[in-house]
Amino acid sequence: MTAEPTTAARPSTRRSGPGWWRDAVFYQVYIRSFADGNGDGVGDLAGLRARLPYLRDLGVDALWITPFYPSPMADHGYDVADPRDVEPLFGNLPEFDALLAEAHDLGLRVTIDLVPNHTSHQHEWFRAALAAGPGSPERARYLFRDGRGPDGSEPPNNWPSVFGGPAWTRVPDGQWYLHIFAPEQPDLDFTDPEVVADLEATMRFWLDRGVDGFRIDVAHGMAKPAGLPDMLPMEDTGLLDDHGPGDERFDQDGVHDVHRRIRAVLDEYPDRMAVGEVWVSDDDRLALYLRPDELQLAFNFKLLTAEWTPAALRDAIVHSLAAVDGTPAPACWVLSNHDRPRHVTRYGGGELGTRRARAAALLQLALPGAAYLYNGDELGMPDVDLPDEALQDPIWFRSGGAERGRDACRIPVPWSGSEPPYGFTTGTGTWLPMPEGWAELTAEAQESRPGSIQSLYRAALALRASSPAFEGEGLAWLPSPDGCLAFRRDGGLVCLVNLSGAAVPVPEGTVLLASGDVSGGQLPPDTALWLVA
Ligand code: NOJ
Repeated sequence: MTAEPTTAARPSTRRSGPGWWRDAVFYQVYIRSFADGNGDGVGDLAGLRARLPYLRDLGVDALWITPFYPSPMADHGYDVADPRDVEPLFGNLPEFDALLAEAHDLGLRVTIDLVPNHTSHQHEWFRAALAAGPGSPERARYLFRDGRGPDGSEPPNNWPSVFGGPAWTRVPDGQWYLHIFAPEQPDLDFTDPEVVADLEATMRFWLDRGVDGFRIDVAHGMAKPAGLPDMLPMEDTGLLDDHGPGDERFDQDGVHDVHRRIRAVLDEYPDRMAVGEVWVSDDDRLALYLRPDELQLAFNFKLLTAEWTPAALRDAIVHSLAAVDGTPAPACWVLSNHDRPRHVTRYGGGELGTRRARAAALLQLALPGAAYLYNGDELGMPDVDLPDEALQDPIWFRSGGAERGRDACRIPVPWSGSEPPYGFTTGTGTWLPMPEGWAELTAEAQESRPGSIQSLYRAALALRASSPAFEGEGLAWLPSPDGCLAFRRDGGLVCLVNLSGAAVPVPEGTVLLASGDVSGGQLPPDTALWLVA
């Protein structure tokens, strides 16, 4: 029995042509925080370009780059003023083309964010809508309505914004416009043919440049119910949560028409894909987004929201698999992203959180389907408590300070050195402050440390790409000691996770990889292993 990875040279089992995304490992690049190439303290395309070899060596298959389009940055790029250009803070189109070419040369696919649900208030369409006035075709691209009450001074319905406060803002001529997110993000009306035509133009613009696919923002939000009725009052807007039935803002049946249009464009190009950000927890409702003429993948956020308990994790896995069962799609696993506390922190932080995050990495990467890593997962980055004056998320401002927002999980990635900014920038400041004490967390420090979480990720990704044990999309649960999870993949991989609080015996077989020390024949608590029996 050995705890070392068995990465003997063998041809990759990974799909390289049609369906390449079915078992791909995507790496989410939160562009502001990944790497800064021009010294201004904000990550950019040049910084990413310089780090492509790092990502190739890490062993991921594809990138998802968060929005890098011209934006006033009210929501850090998810407020898009022009979806067919590059924000100067991040670079320019030639820089993007160079990045794409270099990534492809390194064997990395590149997917980018598509933000169809809303534009920036600085988008030329919204400016034109404000100028044109009520009843105009310019206003018909958005959701302008008269208010309620005798003088129209009440919002048209009771919807709250996801970021806090009402989802409606009044303009000087008395009408109101809908914004499910910040007031600087007016929602588009997808019943207007121009809106969907423009989305198609955006897709073709980037597909013609050679991108491999899209991550679709708020993919469950583009259709609104006729008449915009009140929703069930919800005291806590729950930020990015799924509220299920009664929340009229999301998951309306009409959204599937938009997905069919998106898919039709993708299908004009070979081997391109889209993954949807679909905050819909009901398995059957989620499955609707994965019909043969809709999305190829939908994030399943159940792992991202599950507690570190065997029951919660098993439930998350069972439901994620049930949601894709009967659809052409594989499951799509997410542990962290730029909207939620990082899993090191969710799992308890410190040494405990890191130990669990190591185990979670082996769990996530053992599951059949596609996996999304968030930049810094491979370094075991935790959230950082920021002082009030450093906070920038619109959630912090819109909630009047009641919610701290998402900045804590968006700290720039530490690359090297022993002091902030840890090689993230050649400048001195970073857009969010980086803490002291991260010398051991940097990519450089971890590269030379065999037991580091980065080494674990590299070994895991190499095995996943090369071992036939990972073949097939089936999963069978195995009997396991109390408080443990164990399953077998079609190809023979067994994954055992110990959440029991006490060591359990390592089963018979050849250990491919373990997230902790199994040399004594025992699997310690909060530790996972891969083996073939
Ligand atoms: C989901 C994105 O992940 C989040 O960061 C953004 O604030 C909202 N959509 C609005 O675009």
